Amino acid sequence: MPTRPDTRNIIETQQKRNDLRVTKPLLSVLGGQSLSRPPFWFMRQAGRYLPEYRKIRKTVPSFLDLCYTPDLAAEVTVQPVRRFHPDAAILFSDILVIPDALGQSVNFSDGVGPQLEPVRSVGDLARLSAGETNAHLSPIFDTVRQVKEQLPNDVALLGFAGAPWTVATYMVEGGTSRDFAQTKTWAREDPAGFDRLLALLVTATSDYLIGQIDAGADAVQLFDTWAGAVPADQFDRCVVAPTQRIIANVRAAKPDAKIIGFPRGVGPAVAHYAAETGVDGVGIDSALSPTFAADTLQPAYAVQGNLDPMALLVGGEQMLSAAATIIEALGDGPFIFNLGHGVVPQTPPGHVEALAEFLRSGIKR
Ligand code: CP3
Repeated sequence: MPTRPDTRNIIETQQKRNDLRVTKPLLSVLGGQSLSRPPFWFMRQAGRYLPEYRKIRKTVPSFLDLCYTPDLAAEVTVQPVRRFHPDAAILFSDILVIPDALGQSVNFSDGVGPQLEPVRSVGDLARLSAGETNAHLSPIFDTVRQVKEQLPNDVALLGFAGAPWTVATYMVEGGTSRDFAQTKTWAREDPAGFDRLLALLVTATSDYLIGQIDAGADAVQLFDTWAGAVPADQFDRCVVAPTQRIIANVRAAKPDAKIIGFPRGVGPAVAHYAAETGVDGVGIDSALSPTFAADTLQPAYAVQGNLDPMALLVGGEQMLSAAATIIEALGDGPFIFNLGHGVVPQTPPGHVEALAEFLRSGIKR
């Protein structure tokens, strides 16, 4: 006998309601809760170390094409979730879509890393087109919507952007740099001009994160990969203030937004960063002592980190015991297990599987 359609509809609606009630452990932790099994995900969990990623990457001419093709970007976002069952998926995109959206020329050539046509003066800023960046980024919002439909209900979808300082270094240097000489020189020689670049990035990045949240991102992370290169006398101006402004803008539009800041390489200044910027969670790199983070950060913020990506590359017992030491230090407070930086491309996926299994088993401290 066929099911009466109205009954089926009622059941489906009820299931949807139940699903909406499923809590996402990652969001509970960002709300200040301590969980007996810390949620986990891995920075750069999608990417070249996965054969299924490399297969899809080969089907598009360039890396940016992948970022702007929602079907494919959604698929590579979900790939590591299928394999490792982490508590979060991170949107597949890149921090350099912002300079691209501003009209700067951005290219990723294989083996070379990103190449940008440098912006080094106020005159160069005139070449950029601020204002309509979210229109350019709309395929990425489509990716967010597609991923959201595919993820299990207890898995959070993390959006992200680069923090203004880090994105500025790529824009000014024209790519990856060892000493950030051009960026630091501009910041000191022409403070007003460099501040205009930062202000442009604050606006574009705020709009971008709000767009991701509107499309369904459950939380967002700001990557400040090169924050550790900023001299102490410039730290507030280049790292803290732009981050603080972005967070204020995002919260003005989305009062409940959950935000993780990752000021990589700043050492104990991370405490000042957390207090001034208004983040809910702080990502810590592998150089920071987890007990320092537990003592100084965890009373007020969720902490995320910080297994050495090289421990993951090597794998085996040393990896598991390094992970256990971190959980021992941070597991009693609000804590998200992660790496201290991204998965490196040479990492065997089997090592990530072993670590994920260890974390899911809720190893007792
Ligand atoms: O799972 C994920 O995290 C994937 C999404 C993601 C990528 N980049 C994809 C990517 C994220 C979150 C990023 C962030 C990013 N991009 C950062 C901050 C995090 C960090 O690692 O510090 C930075 C500094 C960049 C800039 C960038 N993108 C560089 C310097 C490079 C070249 C070097 C490299 O790591 O490959 C990229 C390219 C890039 N971004 C790739 C991927 C998968 C490889 C490109 C390819 O597949 O051809």
